[in-house]
Amino acid sequence: MNPRLDRLQPYPFERLRRLFADLQPPTDGEPIALSIGEPRHALPDFVEPVLRASLQGFNHYPTTRGEPALRETIAAWLQRRFDLANVDAERQILPVSGTREALFAIAQAVVADKPGARVLMPNPFYQIYEGAALLAGAEPAFYDLAPENGYLPDFSAIDAATWEGVQLVYICNPGNPAGACMSEAAMQDLIRLAERHDFIIAADECYSEIYHPDAEPPAGLLGAAARMGNTTFERCIVFHSLSKRSNLPGLRSGFVAGNAELLGSFALYRTYHGCTLPPPTQAVSRAAWSDEAHVAENRALY
Ligand SMILES: Cc1ncc(COP(=O)(O)O)c(C=O)c1O
Repeated sequence: MNPRLDRLQPYPFERLRRLFADLQPPTDGEPIALSIGEPRHALPDFVEPVLRASLQGFNHYPTTRGEPALRETIAAWLQRRFDLANVDAERQILPVSGTREALFAIAQAVVADKPGARVLMPNPFYQIYEGAALLAGAEPAFYDLAPENGYLPDFSAIDAATWEGVQLVYICNPGNPAGACMSEAAMQDLIRLAERHDFIIAADECYSEIYHPDAEPPAGLLGAAARMGNTTFERCIVFHSLSKRSNLPGLRSGFVAGNAELLGSFALYRTYHGCTLPPPTQAVSRAAWSDEAHVAENRALY
């Protein structure tokens, strides 16, 4: 067996299941699960008709890069949402089967397995980041999201020895679990650090559409890069999902976007990794990224 498997922690939901095993919940009420963060709002109305109309798609193998129409829809969404002049649907976007697998896969694709390799991630963190680092042959290193910093990262607290060997930095914005949002300026500082220390930033933005309806939408890494002149998104890759935005966690649909060279290598990795989106999933995804009404409704409910 791969000895790196021994370093993986049990997944938290497995651990919880074991802790809950002997508990008998009262039978006179509907349980409210506060453990797994599963959206509970209704499916958007368009899902069923779009799915019915696209069922024949199950007759075909999907491609790793997905259909151009889906990538174009996603590029247009990114441009609208993050005020970007140009996103290249051909070279800067890849559909993924939910962001979880992609957040894991990116470390396997980008980390050079050599002594001192490090992957930096928040603490507390989405557990995939740690497992991804370990299986890629890197040591996980952590930056604290502390209450005294408003649960935001303070990258200036990281010493030179820790930066040494860092190849990949995960950020989660808005953060899970505290929901704190990094400013665009803070992201630009991180991009400058990436240039100085030669690492890639993987921005998990799967909660970017869940914000107070009266608040400004959270900033994103690609917008931050473009507005500091990094219009090719050098060292940047973002992860977006329909799970929370559109209440479709079972669809398993998201995308990654960012630097074309980085995505080119990731696409090569993914042809072997084998994760693709079935054509009907792509059809529903296109409908979801094209519509903001259901997202606004979802935000209002939250
Ligand atoms: C911080 C964070 N990132 C990524 C994900 C993965 O979401 P999905 O794979 O459904 O896109 C989750 C899911 O709960 C999450 O909490």
